[in-house]
Parts: sequence; C-alpha cells; structure tokens
Amino acid sequence: MKRYEESLAALRERLAEPPEYGLVLGSGLGPIAEEIENPVCIPYGEIPHMAVSTAPDHVGRFVAGRLAGRQVVCMQGRLHGYEGHPPEAIVYPIRLMKLLGVKAVLLTNAAGGINTAFETGDLMLIEDHINFTGKSPLTGANQDAFGPRFHDMSFAYAPDLRAKAEAAAKACGIVLRKGVYIGVNGPQFETPAEIRAFRILGADAVGMSTVFETIAAAHCGLPVLAISMITNMAAGVQSKPLSGAEVNETAERKGGELRALIREVLRTL
Ligand code: HPA
Repeated sequence: MKRYEESLAALRERLAEPPEYGLVLGSGLGPIAEEIENPVCIPYGEIPHMAVSTAPDHVGRFVAGRLAGRQVVCMQGRLHGYEGHPPEAIVYPIRLMKLLGVKAVLLTNAAGGINTAFETGDLMLIEDHINFTGKSPLTGANQDAFGPRFHDMSFAYAPDLRAKAEAAAKACGIVLRKGVYIGVNGPQFETPAEIRAFRILGADAVGMSTVFETIAAAHCGLPVLAISMITNMAAGVQSKPLSGAEVNETAERKGGELRALIREVLRTL
C-alpha cells in the first residue's frame, strides 16, 4: 500500500477538489477532457509508480476538474496489455481513483462490431464482458485493502448506472445498443475465425481494453458504467481489411455523440 499512498499524495497535492467520478477515455475519445472547466492536467509520468501509456493518440495524463456540474478525474489515454504493461499496472490508476474517493467509474472504448445488427459508429452499452485475455489484474497476493480474494462479477456493470445511461441516451435522442464486450490482448486485430468463435460465445463487440479495469473496479466496490463505440465492424464481417486509421476516423467523426451522452449521464447521476 506504500506505493499507492505515495501516488495518492502526489495526486492530492495537485487536485483542487476531490473527484466524484472517474472517467477513462478510449481511442479517439480523449477530446472530452478539453471540455473540463478549470482543468488540472497531471501527466502520468509525474505520479510516482504510475506506468506511462505508449499507445498512439493516447495522451497519457489525468485531467481533473468540472464536467456537467460534477467533479471528475479523467484518464486521457489508458494503459493496455499490448503495450507490455502487466494487468496490475493497467488497473493501478483505477485503484487510485478509488482511493481519491470516486463514487463510480465511466469507461469508454473503441470496439469492433461482432453483432451483425450493429453499424460502424454505433454506441453500445456494455452489459457484461468476457475476459478472453487469459489474465487477471488480481493475480498474485490479494490486496485485502481493496477487496476479497474471490469477488463477485455478477453486477460489475452496475444495473442502476446502465438504466441511467439508457435514460440519458433517450433524453439526447441517441441510439444506444446493448451487448457483451469481449476483451482480448491485441495488438493485432482478430482473424475472421476468431470473430466467428466470439459470436458463438455470445460477444457483440471486441476490444483491447476495459476488462481489467472493470475487474479491479468491481474488486474494490466501484460501480462501472462502460460504453463502447463501434469504430469498425470486426474482421470478416465485411469484405474489407481493418485498420487503426478507420478506428480513429470513426472515433473522431462520432465522438461528439459519445461526449454528449457522457455529459448527460454525469448530469443525471
Ligand atoms: N478489434 C479489437 N479491438 C478493436 C477493434 C477491433 O476490431 N476496433 C477497435 N478496437
């Protein structure tokens, strides 16, 4: 816990007010951090014991301040397994958010659409996940200060927050799909055979983040709301190759809708 205390002290020193909600901004979804009033920006490298994100287009800093009338702390740029970070390092900032006193975390990500009823640019409320990485951030000695050795994942994607997100989407006139997110390590996109297998397993969307963060949040008793942007249809769904450029282009084009939804959710929490 000493590491956490040192990181926490460095964060608290910089934050004007304690945050109420934690946000994690996925690929191309970082610009909501620019809408924060009186922002305090803290690069991950300035927090002792924090890993630094190397993913393209992920800025790699905390941005804290006011958004939609709430005090928030955002991760502008998250950490991924494919960068070589161990799962425990990936969830370190989630646990810091818990120690800062946030009431819930809002996770966003870019994902490939497996459900053929989805279209590129759709938003999907994550109802549940399949952790297909073969790893867990809770491997090793249990951190009893955060939660129990064996913790329940039945309600990790908090039903009350999901209901609020659905109501917020309705209020904004935004179509919000629902489904199961399957988390993989990456960085390569999937093969068409993997996507067919994931569809049989019950997945609606696939991505390279979020599952570790949700596991750690659930472990320490933090409710999670998670929304995917379907930035592309997954491999083999359409007869064209996938590219990181398409992911970024869709995230940029449709990011405004997700940002509007997040603001409305925050207003109604
Ligand atoms: N697969 C995995 N991760 C992703 C995808 C995808 O198709 N799109 C955005 N992130």
